[in-house]
Amino acid sequence: MAVTMEHSFPDDFLWGTATASYQIEGSTTVDGRGVSIWDTFSKTPGKVKNGDTGDIACDHFNRFPEDIALMHELGVKAYRFSIAWPRLFPAGNGVREERGFAFYERLINALIAAGIEPMVTLYHWDLPQALEDNGGWSNRSTAFAFADYAKACAEAFGDRVKNWITINEPWCVSWLGYSIGVHAPGRKDYRAAVAAAHHTSLAHGLATRAIKSIDQSAKVGITVNMTNYINENQEDESLKQVVDLLDGNLNRWWIDGVQCGKYPETLLEAYGDLVDGLIHEGDMDLVKCTNEFLGVNFYSDSFVRSARPEDKTFREGSYLPLDVRANTSIPERFSGKLTDIGWPVTPHGLKDLVLRIHRDWPEIRAINITENGCAINDEPDASGVVNDERRVSYLKSHLVALSEAIELGAPVKAYFAWSLLDNYEWAEGYSQRFGIVHVDYKTQKRTIKASGLEFKKIVAANSVIE
Ligand code: GCO
Repeated sequence: MAVTMEHSFPDDFLWGTATASYQIEGSTTVDGRGVSIWDTFSKTPGKVKNGDTGDIACDHFNRFPEDIALMHELGVKAYRFSIAWPRLFPAGNGVREERGFAFYERLINALIAAGIEPMVTLYHWDLPQALEDNGGWSNRSTAFAFADYAKACAEAFGDRVKNWITINEPWCVSWLGYSIGVHAPGRKDYRAAVAAAHHTSLAHGLATRAIKSIDQSAKVGITVNMTNYINENQEDESLKQVVDLLDGNLNRWWIDGVQCGKYPETLLEAYGDLVDGLIHEGDMDLVKCTNEFLGVNFYSDSFVRSARPEDKTFREGSYLPLDVRANTSIPERFSGKLTDIGWPVTPHGLKDLVLRIHRDWPEIRAINITENGCAINDEPDASGVVNDERRVSYLKSHLVALSEAIELGAPVKAYFAWSLLDNYEWAEGYSQRFGIVHVDYKTQKRTIKASGLEFKKIVAANSVIE
């Protein structure tokens, strides 16, 4: 008989679900909302699968009471959502749109009435297009505009919102958006990406200070997407250099910046003249700030198999790959499962990662897993049930790994399932489903999946059974 083990979480552990404005809200032209770079990008032919846009998405702008009721039914205690900057400041300048503030007022008040704590992400990729027209994140002025926007949010909602994430996945913002070009604004400009990597760090430091100038008790952090780069060929010296640069480029740049006030030396060397004039005197003192937590999004490990210096995406004379995903492919010998989007299922990677964070940055007192989940595209069966058993397995295996890391001392305080709802998966459009609740995009009908029911059990028990 199989032996089952129960893995408990700390008494004060916080369980939540996560979403993002452009992925679920819809109503992209309602109440004075300005155009975002994802409105522009998604309407540019060839950029998004099937030409899908977020114009309707999950219609959360109108249906949020129903979605809050679903969270209440699941028993989650917190909801991580993002505010769409262009709803509040349509042109990204100081001109306010009060109807945008009113929408988030309604959403936050409804969450609190339902006993669900709001955790707000200020930037989950929907930059006002007007700012991008002026260079976007490659322009230093955007960092200051972001701090003004953050301050306005703290003034409006800071009496009820006590947990703030400034920027979601600045690596995706900088490298997918400005260098690899597969995300908005779709630019392929290495210099712009390096500039965005610094300006998003600067934006975090400025916004953190702006929020705390309004509310000293606010808990503020940044959310980084991280992975474990597995070197498939330990003897290959050039591969070791690539793995170090990949790790610096994705995992260390922002954490070293905001925690320690410095960037990885090997990266600054690799960037060469691209950083000339970029980092102003005193900038790193502004980037470094007090972070009450680090938000970590983890999906899977990455396997690095070749240095591929002949790859055209490599800069002359340096091994820094522009497209870090070009160097990661699933080794034939990988015997594990893949999700429907093709990512390897590596639950132990979540344990390895949080223990690494605890080892490399011991000053971080709280790690919040702000996203973890998988693309599993099961649909309702004839009886309307969505038996997404692969997602149940993914969820349980990752939570077992997380509980083991906590046992070993990692200061993990929260877990947010990505995602509450099936939603707009960026350049994949609606072709990939990450929700623990199924959404029929034709009818907007929500159906709690088997994984949602499993999550409900785990949250209620504050433990997971292996
Ligand atoms: C990200 C984003 C989410 C994605 C999710 C699945 O981590 O890329 O924060 O918006 O939808 O991660 O890719």
